[in-house]
Amino acid sequence: MTAPLSSTLRFDAEALAGQDDQEGVVLPTPYYHHDRGMTLYQGDSLKLLEMMEPEQFDLIFADPPYFLSNGGMTCKNGRMVSVNKGKWDRSQGVAENHEFNLRWLSACQRLLKPNGSMWVTGTHHVIFSLGFAMQTLGFKILNDISWFKVNPPPNLSCRYFTHSTETMIWAARDQDSRHTFNYKVMKEMNDNKQMKSMWSIMAPRKAEKLHGRHPTQKPMKLLRRVVLAASNEGDLILDPFNGSGTTGLAALENGRRYVGIDASDEYLDLSIRRFEHLDEDFSK
Ligand SMILES: C[S@@+](CC[C@H](N)C(=O)[O-])C[C@H]1O[C@@H](n2cnc3c(N)ncnc32)[C@H](O)[C@@H]1O
Repeated sequence: MTAPLSSTLRFDAEALAGQDDQEGVVLPTPYYHHDRGMTLYQGDSLKLLEMMEPEQFDLIFADPPYFLSNGGMTCKNGRMVSVNKGKWDRSQGVAENHEFNLRWLSACQRLLKPNGSMWVTGTHHVIFSLGFAMQTLGFKILNDISWFKVNPPPNLSCRYFTHSTETMIWAARDQDSRHTFNYKVMKEMNDNKQMKSMWSIMAPRKAEKLHGRHPTQKPMKLLRRVVLAASNEGDLILDPFNGSGTTGLAALENGRRYVGIDASDEYLDLSIRRFEHLDEDFSK
């Protein structure tokens, strides 16, 4: 039986206390490393994040499981298909999902530099849990960005509005953090007007899928904006749910360094192929 949420939270806070004291825990050899500043690890983020040195990342971008692969239907290329992104995206129940979110968010917070910040994406399936977990952990919420998907698939049931946004929570490590925000760069990218918290960006183009397919690939335009807004050249960026490596590509393209983690070697291999073609794919 599922434990009530309040007891899960108390239990989790106790379990998380003292995690920093782990000694003698050694990170496995990276799955891939390139001297340009690209490092990939394969495995469970919950375990690997806890093995990493604290306070080393300037920026973390996380596109975690949204827990929506539960037998529902969606529309793809005009056809009705089942929503099944993979085992990693299946819900374990509200309390368990929340406990998972608390654990990996807490592990990420430990890895951020004092002035570091973090971006976390989600839809209604998960964003409330993520936001509540970040508040519980003492992150300082800076913005909630709406990513408007411009050309979303239609809603087949005709019983809901067409889902056309995702939310990205941007938060500093804690209340005292002096986070990086490249205000001028954002303004210049927006016809010299202040950039708003509503970002209209199309889903990834075909040219972004030349090297294989990931079911939840984010557009390069979205990640470029995140990287340019909240980090500086030479900064170290982490994505604990690497997927097809979009965060890494945006980081490398803009002179940042990158560490990505994913449980799937298939997705890590796709990331490597994308990385190895980065200059030719995006130089146009
Ligand atoms: C939503 S996708 C990220 C997509 C990515 N933003 C992109 O642009 O391709 C989440 C990824 O997290 C990975 N994943 C899920 N749970 C994980 C875990 N506990 N540890 C490591 N990777 C995990 C999945 O294999 C999947 O590739």
